[in-house]
Amino acid sequence: MKTRITEMLGIRYPIIQGGMMWVGRAELASAVSNAGGLGILTALTQPTPEALAAEIERCRTMTDKPFGVNLTILPSANPPPYEAYLDVVINSGVKILETAGNNPKEFIVKAKAAGVKIIHKCTAVRHALSAERNGVDAISIDGFECAGHPGEDDVSGLVLIPAAAKKLKIPVVASGGIGDGRGMAAALALGAEGVNMGTRFCATVEAPIHENIKKMMVEKTERDTNLIFRTLHNTGRVLKNSVSDEVVATENRPGGCEFKDIHHLVKGARGREALETGNVEGGLVWGGQVVGLIDDIPTCAVLLERMVKEAKQHLTYALGMFE
Ligand SMILES: Cc1cc2nc3c(=O)[nH]c(=O)nc-3n(C[C@H](O)[C@H](O)[C@H](O)COP(=O)(O)O)c2cc1C
Repeated sequence: MKTRITEMLGIRYPIIQGGMMWVGRAELASAVSNAGGLGILTALTQPTPEALAAEIERCRTMTDKPFGVNLTILPSANPPPYEAYLDVVINSGVKILETAGNNPKEFIVKAKAAGVKIIHKCTAVRHALSAERNGVDAISIDGFECAGHPGEDDVSGLVLIPAAAKKLKIPVVASGGIGDGRGMAAALALGAEGVNMGTRFCATVEAPIHENIKKMMVEKTERDTNLIFRTLHNTGRVLKNSVSDEVVATENRPGGCEFKDIHHLVKGARGREALETGNVEGGLVWGGQVVGLIDDIPTCAVLLERMVKEAKQHLTYALGMFE
């Protein structure tokens, strides 16, 4: 396939595996890149910048194809050393950076000076335009369906993707709710030049998480997600389980709640343990509405070949309606 995204990133198929806390490790990133897409390591899954450097080296032993690193910059009382992680990306020679959350201009300038291409992931056209003005190379636009943080505007991909594609000059990657060839075909028809997926890649053979979590993703339907942190104006979409149900119930109780009231439920260590031990009720499991479209656990190679083939079939079929 040929789009500005495949050309810019040097990949065969315009399919990107978005950064995923505790999941975006070398096993998955290398498998996606070997399958012709773009795998992405998640910087903050590594406890220190030095550990990220080692993970990048480990990924290099598993693929000779391009891969990227995600750096998610969120407001925090005790922030990780973001710039040191960025320096590792630059010094290790990785040429693709996915940013999410904040996107400080000085980071963009520094990364670009080192020849790094930046894909900024955001959830609103106004944020995408501002990132474009600051010099990023591509935008991943995350619709309301997505896993993770969909923002507070609640605009789903069917509107958000063309709205972004119409306004931006740089290429748009559609993110959120995509898990098969139909979704990919739709994204391309809406004006995107590539797709970004999170949840779908969790249910693959190579995702370094427990089999029970993958099976949970096969079983869940499109109605099985919860929106947490709504009342704290930091919405997150996660899979429905007893922990996320309790978070929602606590937020909705009369008088609402403060973060400290739910911290014991939502803390990262609990989510990590759930992914590692397979205790599907053990903590938050991040996932999007696309779980309703997941019904198997393929290898990344099978998934990508199938998606591309199906996308072409669906677009050809739709084109036939004009004759
Ligand atoms: C388990 C999981 C963890 C995630 N962690 C991050 C993260 O740390 N940083 C980030 O930018 N996005 C994160 N995301 C969001 C994905 O990169 C991607 O934008 C999103 O999953 C797209 O929606 P989809 O799941 O419908 O494909 C995560 C998603 C999942 C499923």
